[in-house]
Amino acid sequence: MQLAERLGRLGTETAFAVSAAAADWAARGNRVYPFHLGDIDLATPANIVEAMNRAIAEGKTGYCPAAGIAPLREALAADIGTARGIELSAANIVVQPGGKPVITKFIQTLMNPGDGVLYPNPGYPIYESQIDYFGGRALPYRYHETASGFGIDLDQLRELAPQARLLIYNNLQNPLGCESSADEMAEIARLAVEHDLWVLSDEAYFEMRYAGSSTSIASLPGMADRTVILYTFSKKFAMTGWRLGCAAAPVAVGDQIAKINTNDESCTTHFVQAAGVEALRDPSGSEPILAELLRRRDAAVTALAAVPGLTCATPDATFYLFPNVTEAVARTGCEGVAEFATAALHHTGVSFCTRHHFGSAQPGEPAHYIRLAYSGISATDIAEGIGRLADWVSAR
Ligand SMILES: Cc1ncc(COP(=O)(O)O)c(C=O)c1O
Repeated sequence: MQLAERLGRLGTETAFAVSAAAADWAARGNRVYPFHLGDIDLATPANIVEAMNRAIAEGKTGYCPAAGIAPLREALAADIGTARGIELSAANIVVQPGGKPVITKFIQTLMNPGDGVLYPNPGYPIYESQIDYFGGRALPYRYHETASGFGIDLDQLRELAPQARLLIYNNLQNPLGCESSADEMAEIARLAVEHDLWVLSDEAYFEMRYAGSSTSIASLPGMADRTVILYTFSKKFAMTGWRLGCAAAPVAVGDQIAKINTNDESCTTHFVQAAGVEALRDPSGSEPILAELLRRRDAAVTALAAVPGLTCATPDATFYLFPNVTEAVARTGCEGVAEFATAALHHTGVSFCTRHHFGSAQPGEPAHYIRLAYSGISATDIAEGIGRLADWVSAR
């Protein structure tokens, strides 16, 4: 069979292989503590579910405009604009089936083959996959461990920026859980303006925070006209499987993204969009979701403190932890972090991703890291699972 040549350049989320290994271990009768997938095991708020049912009963089951229904575009413009202190109108909003399509449509709209694209490493793996698939030049920029978490290697970013036409920036960050300081974000914006870069600001976790407030790079001087914001309902409203999000973009870019919508999926499901209007009208159902995630974060951080050879920052945002396990790996006699992950699953049932699921390690990276997602596991199971991990590492 002869498949399209470009498929050789299409990547995937290798984290799904971790799911398969965990499922296999569970199928053999073992207890698994799932920290590997960034899905949420909490219910979508009732008012949103009811709005969807109403919309179906009212017959909102046909095609609708490619860029989204007017009430949702208006509500999103108001919500995203107010939260970020930027001027948006409905014309800036192009509704999508989830946040992820904004990544590919940003690249399809603004990148020509051979263009350099800066993107975070470690980072969400779909960036690199889509850059390669559409023939761009992948320019990963590094995050490094700091006293309080992780930060961007700005020297490296400054060095790479002249080769780039696009920049992908994910603040608040998956998998690191970190966020930029004001200075770091200002420097990224300065580089974007200096080198005339288009910016994808992936704000999937903008509202997933337990303290402080989020800033969008789109609100910095010179940025509004060169930034496409990725917004999603997936995390805030526990709606990962509903597939609802949008691009907030300068109108000329948004119009092209809407044209891609027409070619790709025609429109986002009408009754799901109607439910999105209700989510924004009464977002109070997101509060217990965030409160539960905070309980889980605290349970995880407390339990991790008892694992020998593991250090972990406490991020105020996202639902990810990215502990440094260099000494724990050595202690268990594992060859590397991949072997450590397999051994941890088999000895303790704790399942997690490693740094390698989020882009190739850059030359000279000295430490081993794992990523724990606490969105799909209860606080009780978090304490129990990590307790087993601590006992296993302690005994080695
Ligand atoms: C950084 C980042 N961007 C985008 C997405 C995609 O979100 P959605 O599920 O809304 O497509 C995710 C999902 O995990 C993510 O972590």
